[in-house]
Amino acid sequence: MMISKVLIDTALWYQKLRLSTNDAFFPLYKNQSRYLVLKGGAGSGKSIFAGRKILERIVSEEEHRALVLRKVARTIRESCFAQLVGQISEHYNISEFKINKTDMTITHLNGSQIIFAGLDDVEKLKSIYNITMMWIEEASEINQADFHQLDLRLRGATKYYKQIIFTFNPVDINHWLKKRFFDVPYNNVTTHHSVYKDNRFLDDEAKKVLESYKDSDEYYYTVYCLGEWGTFGKSIFNASAISERLRQIAPPMKTGLFQKNLEFALEENGYIKIYCESADKIPYVIGADTAGDGSDYSTAQVIDNITGEQVAVMRANIDEDVFAKQVYSLAVYYNNALVGIEANFSSYPIKELERMGYANQYVRITEDSFTHKPKRSFGFKTTKITRPIIIAQLVKLMRDNIFLINDRLTLEEMLSFVRNEKGRAEAQRGSHDDLVMALAIAYYIREQQCFEIEEIKSNIYVPFFSDEQEENSSKDLSII
Ligand SMILES: Nc1ncnc2c1ncn2[C@@H]1O[C@H](COP(=O)(O)OP(=O)(O)O)[C@@H](O)[C@H]1O
Ligand SMILES: [Mg+2]
Repeated sequence: MMISKVLIDTALWYQKLRLSTNDAFFPLYKNQSRYLVLKGGAGSGKSIFAGRKILERIVSEEEHRALVLRKVARTIRESCFAQLVGQISEHYNISEFKINKTDMTITHLNGSQIIFAGLDDVEKLKSIYNITMMWIEEASEINQADFHQLDLRLRGATKYYKQIIFTFNPVDINHWLKKRFFDVPYNNVTTHHSVYKDNRFLDDEAKKVLESYKDSDEYYYTVYCLGEWGTFGKSIFNASAISERLRQIAPPMKTGLFQKNLEFALEENGYIKIYCESADKIPYVIGADTAGDGSDYSTAQVIDNITGEQVAVMRANIDEDVFAKQVYSLAVYYNNALVGIEANFSSYPIKELERMGYANQYVRITEDSFTHKPKRSFGFKTTKITRPIIIAQLVKLMRDNIFLINDRLTLEEMLSFVRNEKGRAEAQRGSHDDLVMALAIAYYIREQQCFEIEEIKSNIYVPFFSDEQEENSSKDLSII
């Protein structure tokens, strides 16, 4: 049987590409997201892959205008330009290319072209239009306004898909790249994580240097060896344990939100993430923090009260009434979990849960403002006294039990939870603390939920106390 030459050529091309590409990156050749965001440690093979993908497209698709960009023009000649010229001579037929070293342009026979520029090449950038592909090298160096300007240049009808590839080290946990591409799922975005271990072409010497950061510099180790977001303040949590955990965790089992009928509807961009399904007879606890006071997000953390494992997380920029309904649904979904909602900023969600007939809320003792007698109220109050207690308790629990946490954003918040100059533990500037606070509340209030499977059969709905009942029943809370 005759096998056509085209078929043989294709097979050879594929084999060559496969053998000269790291496995972690290979599937990305066919990725067509508008934004292909390659974050990772040093030496993981990001730049080599980005260059190769551009070349693969240039030789097989005509009419491309690819822009390769860095913040500073002066650095691009020795980095990206030299790399691409090297890759052409190594993997392609160099006679099919015209390489202009003065202008730094590379043109293929088919008319497709690669242009190199720095953000500081203002004049040159002005003359570059109709871009179909872009590679932003060391993207952490450019700011979001620059990105928007560049993004606008990738418009209009083109024959093939348009793509911007970003390559960078995760130098700052508050970076706009993280907020824009990692924290909220967006259409048209593919994020990718890689470390030196993903690069089989890296020499041992380079690997040793990266490993050695472990003992010398925690920040360098995190960013360049582990490829995780770096923080500048010192976290009050065990940062290296968290970084380690960040490498192990799996994505959520399900993402979505609750419908009116209390059913969980799967939605790719839903703000509730489920890591472990609700299981029969397991007692659960929910800690929740309503938006306000400097945060736009309302959060809830669900833990399994037997194992302490974090089983679900909600983080959403939504109105209080929607938040209350979602917390209610989440609580019902998790076996009528004990719910402790922060009562500082607003007591609306707490009242709303009551109104909906949800009685299994955390109860605290307060003082009646009239009679000065102790009374019971729902919800958790964060005060100068309770705040340090619940945080210290969380820090202590996390010291040896970080494996209980499954959610990436929660772990990242812990990393940026630092002690400020006044000694107060809080999110470093630009970061959030609402997931950490909801988690701290959940672990703190768990005493009011049972710890065993059988016990849950007892009525866990606590009726809300009327005024007279409150007076009589404020002594013993542990029975609940
Ligand atoms: N596919 C590859 N083939 C050959 N060498 C590679 C390949 N990918 C990476 N390398 C080698 O590893 C080094 C680091 O890769 P690079 O892409 O520059 O890492 P990063 O951009 O992630 O820091 C390169 O200088 C090169 O020597
Ligand atoms: Mg690189």
